[in-house]
Amino acid sequence: MNDITNELIKIFNQKNGSTGSRLISGNNPLIEKTETELTNFFNGESGLIFNSGYDANIGFFSTIPKRNDTIIYDELIHASIREGIKLSNSKSYSFKHNSTIDLQNKIKFAKGEIFIAVESIYSMDGDEAPLIELDKLCNSNGYHLIIDEAHSTGFCSNNFFSLTQKYNIKPLARLHTFGKAMGCHGAIWITSNSIKYYLINFCKTFIYTTALPPHSVAMMLASSHLLKERIILNQILSEKINLFKNLAKKFKITSLINSNSPIQSIIISGNQNVISVMKYLNRHGYDIKAIRKPSVPKGKERIRICLHTYNSDYQIKELLKYLNQVLNEK
Ligand SMILES: Cc1ncc(COP(=O)(O)O)c(C=O)c1O
Repeated sequence: MNDITNELIKIFNQKNGSTGSRLISGNNPLIEKTETELTNFFNGESGLIFNSGYDANIGFFSTIPKRNDTIIYDELIHASIREGIKLSNSKSYSFKHNSTIDLQNKIKFAKGEIFIAVESIYSMDGDEAPLIELDKLCNSNGYHLIIDEAHSTGFCSNNFFSLTQKYNIKPLARLHTFGKAMGCHGAIWITSNSIKYYLINFCKTFIYTTALPPHSVAMMLASSHLLKERIILNQILSEKINLFKNLAKKFKITSLINSNSPIQSIIISGNQNVISVMKYLNRHGYDIKAIRKPSVPKGKERIRICLHTYNSDYQIKELLKYLNQVLNEK
């Protein structure tokens, strides 16, 4: 860590802002070094940093697929991808969540190049996309797979830091964001050299914005070093997830969505109902959020619990006890 800390201090002594777009004055050796290091870290060919995951998705989807192409996306895909798709002028269809059968039905209507957009772990349900199956489907038919890894970046073990690495698949592009497990800000597309250079030259959310300031970029780099050093945290996180799931089973909390990730959601239909459960848990000291319609469809309102390595076993047990109590009162 010392190298990184020294680098940070050096950067602060020089300048704080990046001064402009990367195509004008905002580029600097640290961003390029970080792109190279993160590309190696995520085991890809090429990387391009964006100011946020939101910018990255809008930029990619509005730039790479063309008017006569087709984008087919999971119905639970993130809002930033939907916005990018709207701007792309491509044809687009959604498919039923995680259903490769429905996806193949939708492909029958597709024209031009076919892009398939999924998240590796879904932000609201916490479940995984069938990545291996999707990768096979795309490889054998020449479709282009694009994976948003916002919720799997940093969910890792000794030799991988994301799910595409875990399954050893190579989609056309994958997005890693740094505001969640990595604990800072910014995002990077890991893709081919040719797509990287196309984005640099044509992607509006890359070109027409002030680049991330050097201290943010240094944080992105530092977070990847930290993750490598503290890989043990992931083992701890898995234990917390197992504990939570086992206790939920014991308490027969049947409305828990099946997920092996730190995102554990319990469906409680109706905005008022879910808010009252949230307030009950908040009163007992748990900073837990209710996710309401229209962020999720009517009837799918939920309490969304994000487990962290620093949550003690006692806290998890107590949380389940309170959840069980409040759900039984409903
Ligand atoms: C799946 C997904 N993609 C992209 C984003 C946007 O990333 P960022 O917060 O870096 O803008 C988010 C959430 O914030 C997300 O959940």
